[in-house]
Amino acid sequence: MSGHEAGGLKESGERFSSSGFILAAIGSAVGLGNMWKFPYITGLYGGAAFFLMFIVCMVVIGLPVLLAELAIGRGGRGSVTTSFIRLSGKKSWGAISFLSILAPFFILCFYSVVAGWTIHYAIISFTGKLYASGDYAGQFSAFIGGWLPVLWHFVSMLVTAAVIMKGVSSGIEKFNKVFIPGLIILLIVLMIRALTLEGAGEGLSFFLRPDFSKITTESALVALGHAFFSLSLGMGTMITYGAYVDKRQSLGSGALAIGAGDLVYALLAGLIIFPTSAAFGLEASQGPGLVFVALPAAFGAMPFGAFFGGLFFLLLAFAALTSTVSLLEVPVAFLKDTFGLSRNASAAIAASLIFLIGVPCALSVGGAAPGLTFGGKTLFDWFDFILSNIVLPLGGFIVTIFVGYAWKGAAEEAGLRAGWFRLWLFMVRFVAPILVILVLLYSAGIIRF
Ligand code: PHE
Repeated sequence: MSGHEAGGLKESGERFSSSGFILAAIGSAVGLGNMWKFPYITGLYGGAAFFLMFIVCMVVIGLPVLLAELAIGRGGRGSVTTSFIRLSGKKSWGAISFLSILAPFFILCFYSVVAGWTIHYAIISFTGKLYASGDYAGQFSAFIGGWLPVLWHFVSMLVTAAVIMKGVSSGIEKFNKVFIPGLIILLIVLMIRALTLEGAGEGLSFFLRPDFSKITTESALVALGHAFFSLSLGMGTMITYGAYVDKRQSLGSGALAIGAGDLVYALLAGLIIFPTSAAFGLEASQGPGLVFVALPAAFGAMPFGAFFGGLFFLLLAFAALTSTVSLLEVPVAFLKDTFGLSRNASAAIAASLIFLIGVPCALSVGGAAPGLTFGGKTLFDWFDFILSNIVLPLGGFIVTIFVGYAWKGAAEEAGLRAGWFRLWLFMVRFVAPILVILVLLYSAGIIRF
């Protein structure tokens, strides 16, 4: 495998079948971003108004960038760097590869910590320990306030590195073709339970009835960043998926299906978590622990809850594993190609570094180690904030400029009908890059309206 191919992709020369490509790309998009991050930031940044902004960012910026990344991948048929240079004929475009190595490396530092939380929660749900006290918030803060999360972060990186070393990523992806649709069934069951809880209505209106006075500069930035994070954009992941798509596949409908699939998981997560929080009097704006507090409350209130809860967190851990594997593959490929190291050595080095950098992240979020909070945000929050909201949108900005101005064959590759193509080109040339830059400058306080 060359360059920056995500783990789990088919060997070169092989192509995804049409449904295989869409399922694999949805598999990459759906992860902790949908079930953990989306509900907690929606809770923090004002509920329905934030959800609406997120949808707008997804449609107006996310989908055009997604289509652009898929087209670059299929047109260039190589790693991120190769595709950019091949399609534009200019070496200078290789610069994008820098962001696309940096971003996954640092995202993994906190993503793996949360993946570790889900493994721990799967176990304590199956054993029933999770439901013993009924104080889910207290239990979660005791857990993240201790050292156990470091152990689970280690386990998560160990499994990810083992998958990369053994080259069994495609096996994991096959699993996920069953698990990700399976998760939907579980989510629908949970949603029905959540919506029928007494007092659920208040949570539902928090999630679906917008209060526009809650929109702030920071919330707009976070909504934009999350559109990139959730669709796995801005760091070359979807470019590598594009490289495996058959020429006859319509990329436009593929992008729509991926966007819709990703949104459905977020919507279901919201329809479960906010009604449950309201019914049990839990704080929707409590931050990263929301899912780990609200969901156990819902599971605790249903028959066979311990089993369903365990199953849910297990499926979530698997959904996270596809993401951790595809994120680790990027620095591994870089170390291999740049320093001529073996695959095993590259994986060991990258995973160890990520583990080490992730330790203070893991300890900061629960306050286990003092002094890791700066300007009101923990180190964990800073990693997420800077990468998701600044680095990924910048990566997306570069993609839009490339497709809009530097690469002449974009029209043909995207295969859109004339009207749709003009709309897409207008979005990638003007709307998406200008909006990204405006949001970034505005949040940095450089411009004011
Ligand atoms: N989209 C994934 C999620 O929502 C996260 C991710 C981002 C995975 C970028 C790969 C690349 O969890």
